[in-house]
Amino acid sequence: MKKINLEILQEKTFASSIAEEIVTVLNYAIEEKGFATLSLAGGQTPSGIYRRLSRPPYDKQIDWSKVYFIWGDERYVPLDDVNSNYRMVNETLLNNINVDKVKILSVNTTLSSYTEAAKNYSEILKNKLEGNLDFDLVLLGMGSDGHTASIFPNDPLIDDYDPNSFNPEKEDLALGVINPNDSTERITLTPNLIFNAKLVFFIVTGAAKSKMLNEVVSGSKSEKEIPSKLSFKANANVTWFVDSFAGKDQR
Ligand code: 6PG
Repeated sequence: MKKINLEILQEKTFASSIAEEIVTVLNYAIEEKGFATLSLAGGQTPSGIYRRLSRPPYDKQIDWSKVYFIWGDERYVPLDDVNSNYRMVNETLLNNINVDKVKILSVNTTLSSYTEAAKNYSEILKNKLEGNLDFDLVLLGMGSDGHTASIFPNDPLIDDYDPNSFNPEKEDLALGVINPNDSTERITLTPNLIFNAKLVFFIVTGAAKSKMLNEVVSGSKSEKEIPSKLSFKANANVTWFVDSFAGKDQR
């Protein structure tokens, strides 16, 4: 069983601790090559961290205009919809920091279908990132069913993951998927792209996730059953940041 890099953080310093890590990683990338690429997690969990990043001292500790913002997944809804990850990130982070709008690479959910939106997003990433597809940092959440981004259990796209065969010239970087929990339409980055990153941070909080975290840490289910376990095959350096509720059985 692969040993996972698990950090159990106290609630009161959870957002600041992770904000600190994100600032360090992005600044290192900016110093090294003049820009940084950050793929954002959706859902509720990261919103507190995004808010923390948009407030002192972190809001001024990075030249945010040098950061490319990518969405790990998106719901096929209007950008002002309450369920939009774009809207969540805008409200909690982007509206409050000094970004370069050209580097905000969001999913165009106004296109005619979720599959069209995915195809278009794949092209946006290929064109705008000019081959820089080993993201400096990917933030991921985990659902209580073990999904991550919008890679849901038993989705055939899981079978296509091969950490050593990533070929962006020949493959899509984003796909249209259906969330089996509520049949909603989504766009997700592929596992090949997500786990081609240099660094991956999973951010998992709340007692409702503790059972699934146990499964990830010490269970024997496959990545088809628990897509978050795709990270075990990744070349990326993966760290799990969990709060004491999600991590209550991990001490
Ligand atoms: C999404 C996410 C998804 C999320 C998990 C956890 O768009 O919903 O990308 O993968 O990270 O479902 O969601 P919560 O943080 O809301 O528990």
